[in-house]
Amino acid sequence: GVRRRDLKGLLRDRLPDAVHDLLRMSGELGERLGVSVYVVGGFVRDLLLGIDNLDVDLVVEGDGIAFARALAKENGGKLKAHERFGTAVVHLPDGFKLDVATARTEYYEYPTALPTVEQSSMKKDLYRRDFTINTLAVALRPRQFGQLIDFYGGQRDLKERLIRVLHSLSFVEDPTRVFRAIRFELRFNFQLSKETLALIKGAVKMELFHRLSGQRLLDELRLLFSERTPRHAVRRLSELDLLRFIHPKLTWSNRLDRRLIEVEAALDWYKLSCLDRPISGWLVYAMALAEAMPDQAVHDMLKRFPFADAERTALNEARFLTQPACRTLSRRAPPKPSETVRVLTGLSEECLVFLLAQSLTDSAKRQLSLFLTTYRNVKPALTGKELNALGLKPGPLYRTILARLTEARLDGEVKSEAEERALVKECVDQGRGRSKTSGGP
Ligand code: CTP
Repeated sequence: GVRRRDLKGLLRDRLPDAVHDLLRMSGELGERLGVSVYVVGGFVRDLLLGIDNLDVDLVVEGDGIAFARALAKENGGKLKAHERFGTAVVHLPDGFKLDVATARTEYYEYPTALPTVEQSSMKKDLYRRDFTINTLAVALRPRQFGQLIDFYGGQRDLKERLIRVLHSLSFVEDPTRVFRAIRFELRFNFQLSKETLALIKGAVKMELFHRLSGQRLLDELRLLFSERTPRHAVRRLSELDLLRFIHPKLTWSNRLDRRLIEVEAALDWYKLSCLDRPISGWLVYAMALAEAMPDQAVHDMLKRFPFADAERTALNEARFLTQPACRTLSRRAPPKPSETVRVLTGLSEECLVFLLAQSLTDSAKRQLSLFLTTYRNVKPALTGKELNALGLKPGPLYRTILARLTEARLDGEVKSEAEERALVKECVDQGRGRSKTSGGP
């Protein structure tokens, strides 16, 4: 039977007031419109696990879009409806957003069965989901507010820390779920249930993944490698013989594993040292995977997967520019800071982190980390305005002078504004001198 449990207290205690109020308000609106409303999926799973998750997914037994429209209106929000799917996104004025879906009603599909409304639509809706831990729902209508609804043993599997599909065709219906299974397994430190593991092995044997579009597989891999432990994900993919669906030539090796450890360390350092800069960690891992593949395989991979242009560029940088950059940085006579800047400027953040994950000399590592944290922020004290005040005509010369000043700053040739002014004067005199000699008769 259905197991019920009261989560009213948990909702009140764990959620920000604004979100709690929104759930209350949704339930009240449902009451007024005569439809039942539930919050479902990852939100409920994470609530029970004690993990913060404010991705609110509502399911409405009835017209989900009409419900969403009313909810948006009541809150001064905006609605984006997808009529074909019966879904909508409500954007609230404070930036909060929530998803609303319509639970399928089954009157036409099962004319003989007369289950309760809740069972006719919610139960069926939840049955279409991937794993038992994602099938939990909480009722929101005032009289049921906070009641946990668990048709498929989600609570039991949360307790036993198991990822379990609902039925044996789950992976056939949607092979990306295999990657989702690994993602949840690693994220929560859960295990695959015995049947689920067997079904994954079956899916691998049937090579279901070739049917997936490059887009869907890439989306899934992006998510997988955006979790905390991509290195374990790679190992798990290898154990389950799934790496070959990224590319047949991609295999696990000690060498790859060592590189993944280095990438982990480099990303950890980067995140602490370059706080304000966004980076796609998953892409650095992709660089490490590409490094372990022959050129032709990388070429195939870039063809199969619709990477964004910037991602593609970054992957190519990593492949072709990493070694030359390493060589310059590792030279016996270390490059001057300005030279380091010249070599590294223009590379993507991901490629720079990938560089940091290479075996570098101590001096090279130092240059690279100084570039990331310091060098690239160095600017001269003088600006165009001041060059103008010095009587220089605006033009391309400014760029040259400012670049020269930056270089001088980096290499310690000038340390103050006064010294910069002196250098500008020197540059200008030199320029005049040159034009005199070259222009003279
Ligand atoms: N779902 C599914 N099959 C998929 C993708 C999603 O059945 N291939 C279902 C899952 O049951 C999930 C819901 O759709 O609960 C919403 O998907 P998503 O937002 O991707 O999942 P979450 O569980 O919220 O995961 P995350 O915490 O990573 O956002």
